[in-house]
Amino acid sequence: MKKREHRQKTDGENNPSYRIEIERRRPGRTETYIQAFSYEMQDPGDTVAAALREINARPELMDAEGHPAEPILWESSCLQKKCGACAMLVNGEPRLACDCFLRELPQKIRLAPLRKFPVVGDLQIDRSIMQKNLREIRLWMEKPAELWEETAEDAYDASRCLQCGLCLEVCPNFAAEGSFTGAAAAVPAARVLAAQPGKEPTELKKQYRKRIYEGCGKSLACRDICPAGIDTGEMLAQSNAAAMWKRMRRRPRRR
Ligand code: SF4
Ligand code: FES
Repeated sequence: MKKREHRQKTDGENNPSYRIEIERRRPGRTETYIQAFSYEMQDPGDTVAAALREINARPELMDAEGHPAEPILWESSCLQKKCGACAMLVNGEPRLACDCFLRELPQKIRLAPLRKFPVVGDLQIDRSIMQKNLREIRLWMEKPAELWEETAEDAYDASRCLQCGLCLEVCPNFAAEGSFTGAAAAVPAARVLAAQPGKEPTELKKQYRKRIYEGCGKSLACRDICPAGIDTGEMLAQSNAAAMWKRMRRRPRRR
């Protein structure tokens, strides 16, 4: 019943109005400027992503001051917290736009691109560094996978990583031009390490030491940010155990 109420359309008369300020940057340019748009909530389930889609769908896009505006550059795909494409700063916080409900935000919202990645334009960033890092740490199996009951949960948790980059945004040790890969590589590494333990060194284990273990300052800033609910602190501990100490830790089974 609660769910139905949540999806109910707003009455059209008292729809809350939002002022959405966007930090804009045209592709190929470095200068930024703020442009605001008005958005009237259509549905109590409206998210920042829904507002951006509606604004961009307007036949003649005008900003809040009535000036013509270019469509807003940003990325999305699943709109269900599954692909990580819509990561951005919402009122200064790294969030997924499709997981940010307007009803939980103040009526003045500031959107900006994540700061740790090159900006393609407006809110769209280039996250290819994350895929490059996965290739460079040799994130693949060197022999057939073996799965054990005690590591299956870790492998499953690690597989939920969206590669959204929010954990890198808050990490004090990650920089796009640096060698430390951050949790966005450590978490997928946990999946491979869980399926390929054993004492023999692999390329992944060597890279793990250099690119993850030695670079992590253990700030655990990434711990509570993950939209997939991955406990990155626990995942790092698991991967460290497998890559550095040659075994996975056993952790108590969930009830
Ligand atoms: S670990 Fe979480 S926050 Fe980091 S990239 Fe994966 S899904 Fe995003
Ligand atoms: S659009 Fe896929 S996570 Fe937001």
